[in-house]
Order: sequence, then C-alpha cells, then structure tokens
Amino acid sequence: PYPSRVRIIDVGPRDGLQNEKTPVPADIKIGLVQRLQDAGLQEIEVTSYVSPKWVPQMADNHAVMSGMARKAGVRYSVLTPNLKGWEAAVLDKPDEIVVFGAASEAFSQKNINCSIAESIERFAPVVDAALAAGVAVRGAMSCTVGCPYEGEIAPERVAYLAGLMRGIGVQRVDVADTIGVGTPLKVQRAIEATAQHFGIDDISGHFHDTYGQALSNTLAALELGVWNYQSSIAGLGGCPYAKGATGNVATEDLVYMLQGMGIETGIDLDALVDAGQYISDFLGRKPQSRVAVALLNK
Ligand code: HMG
Ligand code: MG
Repeated sequence: PYPSRVRIIDVGPRDGLQNEKTPVPADIKIGLVQRLQDAGLQEIEVTSYVSPKWVPQMADNHAVMSGMARKAGVRYSVLTPNLKGWEAAVLDKPDEIVVFGAASEAFSQKNINCSIAESIERFAPVVDAALAAGVAVRGAMSCTVGCPYEGEIAPERVAYLAGLMRGIGVQRVDVADTIGVGTPLKVQRAIEATAQHFGIDDISGHFHDTYGQALSNTLAALELGVWNYQSSIAGLGGCPYAKGATGNVATEDLVYMLQGMGIETGIDLDALVDAGQYISDFLGRKPQSRVAVALLNK
C-alpha cells in the first residue's frame, strides 16, 4: 500500500543553482520559480542565506525572494545556517526555514565549518526565533547513507542527528543522500533511524542521483510510507562541498513515476517539462531529465 498522494519540494532554484558555474541572474531564478508554481508545485526551496564567499551563487537571495510573485498556498523555503542567515532571511518573509546539519563530522566541517554538536548550538536560537515568528522549521540531514570524506554512514549516526534536531524543536526533517551513493535497503535503514524521532509524515526523502539510484530509493521510501520528497527541476545541481555529486532526482522523472503509479502530486507534467526547458535553455544545455529526453525523441 503506497501513499495515495505525494508532496514534492522542488529544490532546483537552491540545491540546483547553487552549484552552477554559469552565473544565473535573479530574474531568471524568478522566472524559474514562476514556472514551477504554475506547474503546480506547492513547495519551492528558493535560496539560501549563507556566506557569499562560500556560495556566491546564492548571494542574490534578497533579490529573488523580494522579486518573485508569490502564489497563495505555495510554501517558499530558504536555508539559514545561523542567526546571521536567519536575520537576513526573516526580512524576506519565507514560509519555512531550513537548518542543515550532517550525520558525518567531516562533512559538517567542510560544509558549515563546525562540528555536529556546534551546528546544533548554532541552530537552536534560529529554530527558537523562527517558531516565535510563526515560520516553519525543517532540518536537512546530509550524508545519511554515505559521506564523501568518511564513506558509509551507520544508521545509528542518523538516529543521533535526528534526535538532536528533534531536541531543538525542528518540525520535520529531510533524509538526504548527498552524494547519491545510497541503494534502497540502506535508504530504508536511514529512514527507520530517523523515524525513532520523527513521525513518518514529517520525514522527507532527498535523493541525489549520482549513481542512478534515486528513483529506486524513492520507491523504497514510499514502501515505508514516506510521502514528502525533494527533487530538482531538470535534475539540476549538486553540492559544492561534495565533489562529483550530481543533482537531485529530476522532478520530471519523479512525477512521471508517481503518476504512473496513480499517486497524486497536483503537478502538470507538460508544464513541468517546460520549466525544465526554460532553465536548461538559459544554461545552454539539453534538459537532463529522462522524461524530457524521451519526449524530445518522440
Ligand atoms: P564561518 O566562516 O564559520 O562563519 O562560516 P563565521 O560566523 O565565522 O563568519 C565568517 C564570515 O561569514 C563573516 O564575514 C560573516 O559575516 C559571514 P566576514 O567578516 O569574513 O566578511 N557570514 C555570513 N554571511 C552571510 N550569511 C550568513 C553568514 N554567516 C556568516 N548566514 C557558514 C559558516 C555556515 C556561514 C559558512 O560555512 C557557509 O556559508 N557555508 C555554506 C554552506 C552551504 O550553503 N552549503 C550548501 C547547502 S547544503 C546542501 O546543499 C545539502 C542539502 O542539499 C542536503 C543534502 O543533499 O545533503 C541541504
Ligand atoms: Mg542536496
């Protein structure tokens, strides 16, 4: 018995574009957000409030957040690693903020320049401030199956991080396979570890597709009842601190699979393919999703 409906957060504007060498102007990002919401996406991860020295691609966070035309009912989320990020983000009125930690110590250091324990100390006041302001809080958990620096990650370490996130008041969490090394049974173990601290409705799957496993991993997560997923339009992206890792599963491919299974997403696949074409045209490449390629060759 699979879930009858799935909610997708398109993370393309953030996870996707944070890793692009070609500078993408704010108005193109705004155009992408517009096309995603027109296609029926109910959640969009728009940008991050991180150091522009670390991730210059997201330095235009304010321009994008203040320039986009919001659609009622759509939840717009942004990444905030610390109070400085939160203080800038709150002025731009996100619906949800995302604190992002890692199950691996080495990745925590490379990505956010602190240990797991220190990251939780930095997140705690951000979570408090967001909840007090009526802004929802999600926690992203990187490297829940594998780490580019430490190799395989045990489920116990995922449970440990999930417990810390729960302890500071994070409302829901993403089980992220940052470098796309996961396979279905390992992903299930990571989800079960997370489920020691969060209900299944508050767990989402965030699978990068480096080894071509993301849809299989999604199916494995669906079997456990997970019905929230992150994906990236046109399969854009990767993480600047995870060398060689490719983008998230393409939203087009995820929606195609879910529609074929009779699972409701509220998303119009043709409009989604157009959104993928729009950003791929700008970047000067063919759309990377399998669905877009299949439709082009038809
Ligand atoms: P730090 O150097 O330890 O921070 O960086 P600091 O507090 O010592 O400050 C150093 C400088 O950064 C100062 O500026 C601060 O003002 C500035 P300076 O005096 O040198 O000019 N600064 C900031 N500027 C803007 N916004 C901020 C901010 N904080 C400090 N919020 C920090 C710590 C976290 C800021 C840094 O390590 C950073 O920005 N890292 C980038 C992290 C990132 O964006 N990674 C990619 C996203 S995560 C991801 O992709 C994984 C995910 O998709 C899930 C998955 O797939 O695994 C979510
Ligand atoms: Mg990611």
